[in-house]
Amino acid sequence: MSAPTPAIDWQLLTTRANEAMTKAYAPYSKFPVGVAALVSDGRIITGCNVENASYGLTLCAECGLISELFASGGGRLIAFACVDGAGAYLAPCGRCRQLLFEHGGNELLVMTTDGVVPMSDLLPWAFGPGHLAHE
Ligand code: THU
Repeated sequence: MSAPTPAIDWQLLTTRANEAMTKAYAPYSKFPVGVAALVSDGRIITGCNVENASYGLTLCAECGLISELFASGGGRLIAFACVDGAGAYLAPCGRCRQLLFEHGGNELLVMTTDGVVPMSDLLPWAFGPGHLAHE
């Protein structure tokens, strides 16, 4: 029997994303980003962007989040929030939508300035693990 889906506390996710945002290393863009996600086992994970003098090597906040997902025990992403330096909800960039899709699928709920939307709205017709499955 699979574990019940944990309840989503968007306020807490937003707070945790804002806390993570304050840890960002963004001296070049001066655009700190923080993210937080609820994982299927109920824990909350976070990430912040980490830039580099070689600009193209910048790690989006979502990269740290996905690393944290695995470093802290794995699982599936249930709900996700991303904020900018002013605390406003930010749409994840295209590359990061793909990162999030891999670990949350079409059902992952994402907070946007228009409210909560499923990943299937943010990344329709997504390419994903299912396309590589060959049992
Ligand atoms: N950024 C993120 O961390 N995540 C996103 O989804 C959008 C963009 C960061 C990358 C860079 O450090 C800064 O925002 C400006 O592009």
